[in-house]
Amino acid sequence: MLGTPLAKDGSILLRILLVVVVLLVGSSGLVESGIGVNWGTLSLHKMSPTTVVNLFKDNKIEKVKLFEADPDSMKALMGSGIEVMVGIPNDMLPLLSTSTSAADLWVSQNVSRYMVKGGANIKYVAVGNEPFLASYSGQYQSYVVPALMNLQQSMAKANLAGIIKLVVPCNADAYESSLPSQGAFRPELTQIMTQLVSFLSSNGSPFVVNIYPFLSLYGNSDFPQDYAFFEGTTHSVTDGPNVYYNAFDGNFDTLVSALSKIGYGQMPIIVGEVGWPTDGAISANLSAARAFNQGLINHVLGNKGTPLRPNVPPADIYLFSLLDEGAKSILPGNFERHWGIFSFDGQAKYSLNLGNGLLRNAKDVEYLPSRWCVADPSKDLSTVADHFKLACIYADCTTLNYGGSCNEIGAKGNVSYAFNSYYQLLKQNEKSCDFDGLGMVTFLDPSIGECRFLVGTTNVKSSGFSLHGRLVIVLLLIFWVSWIHIV
Ligand SMILES: *[C@@H]1O[C@H](CO)[C@@H](O)[C@H](O)[C@H]1NC(C)=O
Ligand SMILES: *[C@@H]1O[C@H](CO)[C@@H](O)[C@H](O)[C@H]1NC(C)=O
Ligand SMILES: *[C@@H]1O[C@H](CO)[C@@H](O)[C@H](O)[C@H]1NC(C)=O
Repeated sequence: MLGTPLAKDGSILLRILLVVVVLLVGSSGLVESGIGVNWGTLSLHKMSPTTVVNLFKDNKIEKVKLFEADPDSMKALMGSGIEVMVGIPNDMLPLLSTSTSAADLWVSQNVSRYMVKGGANIKYVAVGNEPFLASYSGQYQSYVVPALMNLQQSMAKANLAGIIKLVVPCNADAYESSLPSQGAFRPELTQIMTQLVSFLSSNGSPFVVNIYPFLSLYGNSDFPQDYAFFEGTTHSVTDGPNVYYNAFDGNFDTLVSALSKIGYGQMPIIVGEVGWPTDGAISANLSAARAFNQGLINHVLGNKGTPLRPNVPPADIYLFSLLDEGAKSILPGNFERHWGIFSFDGQAKYSLNLGNGLLRNAKDVEYLPSRWCVADPSKDLSTVADHFKLACIYADCTTLNYGGSCNEIGAKGNVSYAFNSYYQLLKQNEKSCDFDGLGMVTFLDPSIGECRFLVGTTNVKSSGFSLHGRLVIVLLLIFWVSWIHIV
C-alpha cells in the first residue's frame, strides 16, 4: 500500500528508506515495556474501587492485574481505558477443565459482559495463579492445559479469541539451575510445560512469570544481599561469556534457557509479579523496597534487556503490589501483608517513579475519627493474653514480630497495638475497645517512631456529603426561607 504512490516516480531508494524507517519504528515499539501493578483485594479496610481506579489514573498506571473477576473492581475499571489482566483462581480449574459449559459461562459472566462500548479493556485472562507451585504438590497441574483449551473455545465462540489472550502466571520455581544458561523446567513439569508453551505460542500469547529476589534473600541466608538489587554487586555470576550483576536478570535468563530447551527460545515474556515488601522481616523495609523497585523500573525502562535477550526487556512487568492486604495468609511469612507500594489506605509508602513522576496519594479517602484504643495504663495486664491473641487473630498484628516496624514497643505497647488494630477493624465500635475493662479510647496518636497505630477507613463512597447530610441541609434551607418570610 505504502509503495503505490512512490512507484510512480520509481524511486527505489526512497522506498527502501521508507521500509527501513517503518521497520525501525515498528521494532522500537515492540521492545517498549509497560509498568503495570497487581491489585489484590484481601484487605481488612477496603478502599472503594472507584477511589482505587482514580489512584491508577492519577499515577498514569495503564495496566492492572486482578486475581479474579471481582464485579466491583471490573465495573470501576469500565471506561477507564486501563488494560486489564483478569485472573481465574486455581480452585476453579478442575471445573473449567472438564466442563465446556462452565467455561462458556465463565467467559460470558466475567469477560463478555464487560467487553461492551465504554466497558473494560481486558487484554489477558490469567488461567490459574502459579498452579505449578511446588508447595501445591501437583494438585492443579493436570487441569491447566484442558482448562486453557476449553476457555480458548469459549473465547472463540464469543468472538474474543483475537482480542484477549489466555496466559498462565507461573512461579519461578517452575524452573531451576545454578547458572542461567543451564536453566530447565522441573523434570516432572517438562511434558506439561511443553504442552502449555506450545499452546501459548500457537495463540500468540506470552509466558507469564513471577520473579521474587526478596524470597531468595529471605529464604537463604547465604544469598548475597547486593545481588538482589540493581546497584552493582560484589557477587556477580559468570556464566560462560555472560556476567550477571543482579538476581532478576539471572532468573529471567534461566527461564529463557528453559524455554529454549523445549524449543521456544523466542517466546515473549511478561513478569506477572515482582516487588519487595516493607514490613514483617528484617530485609523487608522501606529503603530496601524503594531501592529494589526503583532499580527494577529503571532497569526495565532502560531497554537493555539481559545477556540472553540483549535490548529485549520483558514485554511488561506488573509490580506486586498496589496496596497492603491485611487479610492475606501469613503462611509464607509476616511480610506477606506488606507488599504494597501504597499502604492499605492508598498513601505512598516511599517515593517511587514509575516512569512519569513520583507516586501520588489516593484522594478522597474517608477515615474514621482520629481516635485509638490502647491498654488502660492504670490496669493490671496479667490477664490480657487471651484478649491479645483473639484481637490478633482477627486484626493484623504482623508488625509486632521480629523484623517488624513495631517489634520494639514493649509488652504494654504490644497490647495497645493489638487492641487498636481490633478496634479499627470493628470500625471503632464502642464495645470493641472494652477487653473486660482493660482497654480505653484515646485522642492522642499512640504511634511510636516508625510504628504507626492506624486509623481505619469508612466504607462510605467518597462523594462529599452523605445523603443524610444533604437532607439535613435542604431541611435547614427550607426552615431558614420560611423563617425569613415569617419575619
Ligand atoms: C466469575 O468470577 C468470579 C470471581 O472469580 C467467580 O466467583 C464466579 O463464579 C465466576 N462466574 C462463573 C460463571 O464462573
Ligand atoms: C533494610 O533491608 C536491607 C536489605 O535487606 C538491609 O540491608 C538493611 O539493613 C535493612 N534496614 C534496616 C533499617 O533494617
Ligand atoms: C511483643 O509481641 C511480639 C509478637 O507477639 C513478640 O515477639 C515480642 O517479644 C513482644 N514484646 C514484648 C516486650 O513482650
